Amino acid sequence: MRATVTRLWLTVLMTAGLWVGSQIAGAQSDSSQSLPQLHKQGTAVQLLVDGRPFVILGGELHNSSASSLAYMEPIWPRLVSLNLNTVLATVSWELLEPEEGRFDFALVDGLLDGARRHNLRLVLLWFGSWKNGVSSYVPGWVKQDVSRFPRMQPKAGDNAEVLTPLSDTNCTADARALAALMRHLKQVDGTRHTVLMVQVENEVGLLGASRDHSPPADAAFGKDVPADLMTYFQSHKGDLIPEFRKYWEAAGFRTTGTWTEVFGEGADEAFMAWHMARYLGRIAAAGKAEYPLPMYANAWLVQYDGEPAGRYPSGGPVSKVLDIWRAAAPAIDFLAPDIYLPDFKAVCASYTRSGNPLFIPESSPGPERAFYAVGQHEALGFCPFAIDSLPPEHPLNDAYRLLAELLPVIVQNQGAGRTCGLLQYKQDNEQIDFAGYRLEVSYPKEGKDTGYGLVIATGRDEFLVAGSGVGIHFSARTPGPRHTRILQVDEGRFQDGKWIPGRRMNGDEDAGGWRLQLSAGAPGIQRIKLYRHD
Ligand code: DGJ
Repeated sequence: MRATVTRLWLTVLMTAGLWVGSQIAGAQSDSSQSLPQLHKQGTAVQLLVDGRPFVILGGELHNSSASSLAYMEPIWPRLVSLNLNTVLATVSWELLEPEEGRFDFALVDGLLDGARRHNLRLVLLWFGSWKNGVSSYVPGWVKQDVSRFPRMQPKAGDNAEVLTPLSDTNCTADARALAALMRHLKQVDGTRHTVLMVQVENEVGLLGASRDHSPPADAAFGKDVPADLMTYFQSHKGDLIPEFRKYWEAAGFRTTGTWTEVFGEGADEAFMAWHMARYLGRIAAAGKAEYPLPMYANAWLVQYDGEPAGRYPSGGPVSKVLDIWRAAAPAIDFLAPDIYLPDFKAVCASYTRSGNPLFIPESSPGPERAFYAVGQHEALGFCPFAIDSLPPEHPLNDAYRLLAELLPVIVQNQGAGRTCGLLQYKQDNEQIDFAGYRLEVSYPKEGKDTGYGLVIATGRDEFLVAGSGVGIHFSARTPGPRHTRILQVDEGRFQDGKWIPGRRMNGDEDAGGWRLQLSAGAPGIQRIKLYRHD
């Protein structure tokens, strides 16, 4: 796994010229080769599970659901009927280590058992030092010992209920607990691979101020920016995320100096991001030393342009500080957005910069989001939040069923510019240049239906289109005969990877040979073949 991640980042580094992953290739055993791991196929990053590409069609449970196995029992079958393949479930520090040094794995074992009985995989969410900018999930023995486990101070002299990342004691205690969890997972799941990945903490950062003003934080803020971060910025100067590079530029691209001297207006957030990321990176490294599953950090997003850090958690992995996180935390494999904002496309685009693979651990539940993320960004997975509240007849059900049918074709075509996503957002048509063709896409007029889909270029002049509420007129953009026409359109489905054609779509169903049409409602799949003539 380590070798694979290193290879992955080396490839990312080479293709994008970015990211200084510092994992060191370790000795490989056969069993570590088949661990869930990230792997590069062309330009895409895939999650390999038991050696095969796997796309997470998931959902995240409410925060407290997985704290009771009895509570979970009726939920498992509901998740199955929603056609999920993976569940994101909390494992909290307070329940894992109720007394210092005594670990209780009963809940974790029960979750593994529940998932396996229902043929589901798990991503575990480690709610340790922080969850949504506060430290409410730390064990009582940590909560009550403020002098041993120091807090952040949004206002100097006033402890919040939030651990400071500038404490070795805090980090070591958390890392020891995550390491214990990973050691246990290796023992009980090292060959079954029910658990695919681990989220380290949840939506970290400081709320209420742009930086920690506790004594150790104030002392560190007065010192120079660490050389490692300066080296990263200098060696990636041309490719840095522009929203943050601008602060460095405004300060004259200084190569040494205090946080304020180097990052000016961005100093507080840069400082917080560095320390948060270092802390999470240390925890992740300790966990991976026991059992090297992919690990990521998720973000509470900036809610509007110009929102000040501290109103959203300052130092959290928002996309503008991607570079700082990368420099500080090579053991964190990627950063993941929790997307409740309406402009889903923009958020996805902002998290696929400089080689960051897209994984969406939380989102509102629209099926259109799943199609777009997988089609446009070859996402590792999509997981609406509060999945246990969705009724089995929710539209996600049909969307996941259909995506699951298509997954073998999708993963086979990843990494080569052969898939794209369609998502209606404030428009009723758009033009997309894709795989040598221009796609003129029409969506329903503003109303209750949202058009969405994905397109896969499966062969010469041949496409698979899956989705709902879209019409597509194709015209070739490559040299050759002038007119592009429809040879045939079939609706159909995949069964065990095999295409089973249904109706031949002609006449009203393809606008008289003009465009492929997927009607609104439950998504469908159509295969179109084109030809050209003068
Ligand atoms: C985002 C958090 O990450 C989740 O754990 C949950 O609290 C949701 N917000 C609630 O909307």
